[in-house]
Amino acid sequence: MSAVTEQLLLPHEQHRRRPARVLAVTVSVAVVLLLLLVVVPASLLRRTLLGAPSTDRVALTLLAGAKEKGAVCLDGTPPGYHLQRGSGEGADRWLVHLEGGGWCSTVKECSDRRLSSQGSSNFMRSIRFMGNGILGGDQLQNPDFYNWNKVYVRYCDGASFSGDAEAQAEDGTTLYFRGLRIYEAVIDELMEKGLASATQALFTGCSAGALSMMLHCDDFRARFPQEVSVKCFADAGFFIDEKDISGKRSLWSLYDRVIHLQNVRKVLPKDCLANKEPTECFFPAELIKSIRTPMFILNPSYDSWQIRNVLVPDSSAPDKSWLSCKENIRNCNSTQVEVLNGLRNKMVNDLKVVEDKEDWGMFIDSCFTHCQSLSGISWHSPTSPRLENKTIAEAVGDWHSGRSQGAKEIDCKYQCNPTCNSLPPPRDVTAFDRVEIY
Ligand SMILES: *[C@@H]1O[C@H](CO)[C@@H](O)[C@H](O)[C@H]1NC(C)=O
Ligand SMILES: *[C@@H]1O[C@H](CO)[C@@H](O)[C@H](O)[C@H]1NC(C)=O
Repeated sequence: MSAVTEQLLLPHEQHRRRPARVLAVTVSVAVVLLLLLVVVPASLLRRTLLGAPSTDRVALTLLAGAKEKGAVCLDGTPPGYHLQRGSGEGADRWLVHLEGGGWCSTVKECSDRRLSSQGSSNFMRSIRFMGNGILGGDQLQNPDFYNWNKVYVRYCDGASFSGDAEAQAEDGTTLYFRGLRIYEAVIDELMEKGLASATQALFTGCSAGALSMMLHCDDFRARFPQEVSVKCFADAGFFIDEKDISGKRSLWSLYDRVIHLQNVRKVLPKDCLANKEPTECFFPAELIKSIRTPMFILNPSYDSWQIRNVLVPDSSAPDKSWLSCKENIRNCNSTQVEVLNGLRNKMVNDLKVVEDKEDWGMFIDSCFTHCQSLSGISWHSPTSPRLENKTIAEAVGDWHSGRSQGAKEIDCKYQCNPTCNSLPPPRDVTAFDRVEIY
């Protein structure tokens, strides 16, 4: 607020020798602004006057002792995270978010990631937790979590923080598959930095990061005493084991390669492994059967990433007949919408197990979008998707705080929810799920 005050009052100081009338106008403007400063909350004032929320950058912290622990990104550099301290009532509450960004399933794909922040901290920079979405610091736009400690953990292993192996890249250098060690070392370091004394913790992630979170949710919970409230929140991570339109199990094959390349095993639930293939146990439909920690599942049932990459990957429709439908659901004809309904039906069916889980929550809207918690437009705004007239922030906040227990909302089919209409179709984020705000 002081920066705003300075900016507004400076002109007055500099031009004090102006004619009396101008001075009078300037003074009355200043008085009105001062009144505004007193009456209106700082966040609202900032938005009103500057048209944008605060844009403080949050520095990158590299994990200490990463090399000794073998907890490194694909290229051997230390992994990183961004920590923003909480304040007031939020000082002892922690939100830990795992970054998303697809998976790499071959030596070539994982090698290529070393030239980006998805495989090397050499390319990671500070980021902004803009004043909106679940990471935002604006009370109006993020009523339940605005003042919490917030951690954004960078994703640089390519296997949802779950692999543990090494390989040789084509150029003879070592490729490190150390996602599991990264998860463990980063959480250990955060515990030392105050997470251990949290009174409330929310473990989240979006897209591949939400899958990562699900794989570790119970482990994360087990690190805290029983009296601490620990909950998990998965945004757009409910990936479906669905065949693509050419009949191939594309996502299953991708997961199968990831699991074998990166030696994903330890994080998979034992009760699932007892009677299923490891690859099947990497799917949320199986994972949620074993997870005991209260979880909220947020997912659009017309998930744009899954439509573009699971249901209709380019390889399944080489004749381009699906391009405009994949671009924007509004361009789909009735036959295509029926195909999309197939994905929705499978998702709704897979989520039936959640009905029996008392302290879980769901918000399955019929919008054509992907991650919805990191952008203010979908999280909590006049044009947010709504179910039972609640925004996502309200539904998650009510579930988290216990204001309403076990709210599980599943939207009706495509086009029945008018609040979906104001969402712009997301751009294609095949490998890079990170939202543009960073
Ligand atoms: C919808 O589009 C697809 C692909 O272009 C086409 O094969 C199909 O016949 C169309 N269906 C209708 C009802 O127009
Ligand atoms: C829906 O919520 C908005 C704002 O939260 C409120 O103004 C409106 O009256 C509600 N509508 C219904 C039908 O409950």
